[in-house]
Amino acid sequence: MVLLITLEGIDGAGKSTLLHALEEQIVDLDAVFTREPGSTWIGKAVRQAIADEIDPIAEALLFVADHAMHLKTVIRPALAKDRIVISDRYTDSRFAYQQATLAGIIDDPRGWLAALHDGWSITPDLTFLLVIPVHRALERIGREGVREHFEREEVLTLVQKEYLARAEAEPWRFVIIDAEEEKEVIASFVADEIRRVCGSQGRRLRS
Ligand code: TYD
Repeated sequence: MVLLITLEGIDGAGKSTLLHALEEQIVDLDAVFTREPGSTWIGKAVRQAIADEIDPIAEALLFVADHAMHLKTVIRPALAKDRIVISDRYTDSRFAYQQATLAGIIDDPRGWLAALHDGWSITPDLTFLLVIPVHRALERIGREGVREHFEREEVLTLVQKEYLARAEAEPWRFVIIDAEEEKEVIASFVADEIRRVCGSQGRRLRS
């Protein structure tokens, strides 16, 4: 029985804050907390690619390569041990962001991305999507410093639209969160949801 949970949302939506809160609130579930882009050398290459604003196709392929390494080195081994995995960003990030960056470059970015993942990737069991007005996200990012090329209003608007379309297409997997709520309220809601889903799957919790 697998349980792969992902956190998604545009930059500035508060995913990292949520992840840190969850690390404390559900410590008893013994989950593996992880992220994409990851911490392997490919993850570092991805961050370099983002900083250098390289060709969007090359950048997309690096994100996919990072995902493959993430599955092999972190996710599959953890799921094989029956551990809950919680990933800060995952494949929905690719569909949301790369759809925006590849628009006008590739005819059908969604189909291209789907083909790239087909046959080997794993679909999450549960995805929390933090949704926030783009201007509010940009205000939050603005306070934290330098912007990546994704963090522009027109890009993030497209990205969030695609996230919402994915949530609408797969409602059984997505839980939409109002990211403007108090961070403590969001964290306890998400923690409760995770406990509820784990409980309903009969998972044995660490005592
Ligand atoms: P982010 O989680 O913000 O990492 P950091 O803590 O280094 O800022 O991810 C970096 C950016 O990469 C973010 O703007 C979203 C983007 N991204 C994609 O475009 N595609 C992907 O597949 C992933 C995982 C991330």
